[in-house]
Amino acid sequence: MGRLDGKVAIVTGAGRGIGREIALTLAREGAAVVVADIDETNGSKVAEEINSVGGKAIFVRTDVTDYENVGKMVKRALDDFGGVDILVNNAAVWNIKLFKDSVPDDWMREIRINVIGVLNCIHNVLPHMMEKRSGRIVNIASDAGRVGEPWLTTYSGTKGYVISLTKALAKELGKYNITVNCVSPGVTKTPGAQKFIESVGEEKLAKAYPLRRLAEPKDIANAVLFFVLDESNYITGQILSVSGGYVVG
Ligand SMILES: NC(=O)c1ccc[n+]([C@@H]2O[C@H](COP(=O)([O-])OP(=O)(O)OC[C@H]3O[C@@H](n4cnc5c(N)ncnc54)[C@H](O)[C@@H]3O)[C@@H](O)[C@H]2O)c1
Repeated sequence: MGRLDGKVAIVTGAGRGIGREIALTLAREGAAVVVADIDETNGSKVAEEINSVGGKAIFVRTDVTDYENVGKMVKRALDDFGGVDILVNNAAVWNIKLFKDSVPDDWMREIRINVIGVLNCIHNVLPHMMEKRSGRIVNIASDAGRVGEPWLTTYSGTKGYVISLTKALAKELGKYNITVNCVSPGVTKTPGAQKFIESVGEEKLAKAYPLRRLAEPKDIANAVLFFVLDESNYITGQILSVSGGYVVG
């Protein structure tokens, strides 16, 4: 018996990295998972990986920046699995640049995926969660959004948005029994972060973290699992850093 038997979860950006690990973790606990990613090759692989070990998953090619496209993905969840209980907003991108060297296209890409993408997904699942008077929304932020990181200036801004949105929505949606929480990672060993980690050096980066290592995707996925289990049904509007003590309190 899995702790999420009978639940349906949508995980955006689940084709690789943290999103993939979240999808595998929720599926292992019995959830039926919609792997929603713009990358068809990776996304299909993750869904196959889940199905091949007896889990339940479908891949739905999704561009989170497109409201209608997200609506179709949510409809697939309803048609194929009969509902949506959990939404994990994980898809995001970042530019590593000083603000003075960035161009408007850099900001727009981050804002479209990291901000508008989150709004599109939440807005599309809300009617179903409100009708059911039950739902779990977990947004993946970043400690860059909590403390601000130079070189990740505009990305930090998008994640600050996600953090504030989480708090406000938690207050607005509590009466529908919908919780909204944030998991806030530090540098995590994913394909998306690989070049950055290699350029600085893993050991050097790890020194910034009290626990003296970088996060594995599993560390982040476990925190997401915590927020969607029945045991955490009285927790909402919280920002949980999973970064080895980089941000405390
Ligand atoms: N890796 C880190 O160091 C780190 C640190 C802090 C926060 N985070 C956050 O964790 C989350 C996952 O990061 P990651 O490192 O696993 O990223 P990643 O780049 O490895 O994977 C991101 C996934 O999102 C998908 N994606 C991109 N644009 C999309 C779109 N428009 N629609 C749908 N899917 C799209 C990609 O195809 C990819 O599969 C992000 O929210 C990121 O901001 C990561």
